[in-house]
Amino acid sequence: MTINIKKKYINVGLIGYGTVGKGVLKILEKNKKIVLRKIGKPINIKSICDLRPIDKPELYVKNFRNIIRDPEIDLVVELIGGYEPARTIIIESLKAGKNVVTANKAVLARYWDQIFTVAQDCQRSIYYEASVGGVIPVIQGLSEGLASDEIFEIKGILNGTTNFILSEMTRHSISYDSALKSAQAAGFAEADPSFDVNGIDSANKLAILSSLAWGSWIKVKNISIKGIEDLDVEDILITKNFRYDIKLIGCAQKTKHGIDLSVQPCLVNHNHAFATVENEYNAVMITGKDSGDVLFYGKGAGQQPAASAVVSDIINLSKFIVTNTAGIVPDVIYDKKKKIKIIAPGKSRASYYLRFTVVDKPGVLAKISGILGRFKISVTSLLQQDTSNRDCVKIIIITHETYRENIEKALKQIDATRSIVKSKTVKFKIEI
Ligand code: HSE
Repeated sequence: MTINIKKKYINVGLIGYGTVGKGVLKILEKNKKIVLRKIGKPINIKSICDLRPIDKPELYVKNFRNIIRDPEIDLVVELIGGYEPARTIIIESLKAGKNVVTANKAVLARYWDQIFTVAQDCQRSIYYEASVGGVIPVIQGLSEGLASDEIFEIKGILNGTTNFILSEMTRHSISYDSALKSAQAAGFAEADPSFDVNGIDSANKLAILSSLAWGSWIKVKNISIKGIEDLDVEDILITKNFRYDIKLIGCAQKTKHGIDLSVQPCLVNHNHAFATVENEYNAVMITGKDSGDVLFYGKGAGQQPAASAVVSDIINLSKFIVTNTAGIVPDVIYDKKKKIKIIAPGKSRASYYLRFTVVDKPGVLAKISGILGRFKISVTSLLQQDTSNRDCVKIIIITHETYRENIEKALKQIDATRSIVKSKTVKFKIEI
């Protein structure tokens, strides 16, 4: 093994000088001594590429290929986000012999196959800790800490913005729209927060964790996704009575029918650790055969948490660059031929919270429970909300575990009974 003792610095090319990129520079400057102690060589930011000129003209390059083609650059840090040119930057960098750090969950989830095949072929490393869970070292935890174990389940609050919105709705009993405005004012939600609130961001992160855990490419299209945009604060208030909070949960579970993958707002029992995860914090619970439940917790959104994870990746990868060993043993075991069975839609099993809005007259409850019974759905608890409005009542039912297809068929039939149903029935999976 050749130790690169001649190397004075680890030369880094940074592509994307937005919030996280600026945070990376701040941390590298502030923690210079820590970085030096850990690698034995300083990190030198040699070039920065961005669409517009930056406040460091001496480092600025306009074309990212000037970084990729620079023979002195050891490590390319991609922080532009999105699919293109991020994918091109990563692929061309690996092919040019660079190692790569990225925080880009979208590009990893969509091009996992291509990125890790090229990385293996070129014997280069790509680190991506900041792509999932902000500062939480869950990628390292899964690929190194739990390397020996067979993973059964990954469950998590994977999006800081939505968790902030749900915390605000729960705390202040306010509508989704008002809570979204608070999240934007606090700097957590983007001006266009679509990918956060529609669940795609969480699904990208779940796809990454699952692909890593099961050594194959788990695609976003295999995940059943529902966001929080339609969430009514009324359900948050009602579920409190049953000692539940509503959280956006990503869940990947090995079952006898295949891997069951979903992102959806779920009921979480007040006794569970996830119920204490508030605001921009994320949490991931990984369950392994020998390890049992392992819980990761920390800030999932914000400049400093993300930048801190990127700098940790730079440090960890630089240790291998210094010894010329980066990428010799692949970081991600990716076997193209390994086929993973995904559960058929509908075969997923869970307990459900159902809120019916129905007319208040004799026989309505019997009608609902009759249809549920026909689809073999058993009731655990039932509550009819006391209301002065005699035309319309809310009936809340918590079910035993059942197949998703049974719930869907039963609700379709109930909602089609126009003589009793006033508005579409609301359902949530009970996660924990
Ligand atoms: N938009 C993400 C979130 C942060 O709110 O969690 C980066 O992944």
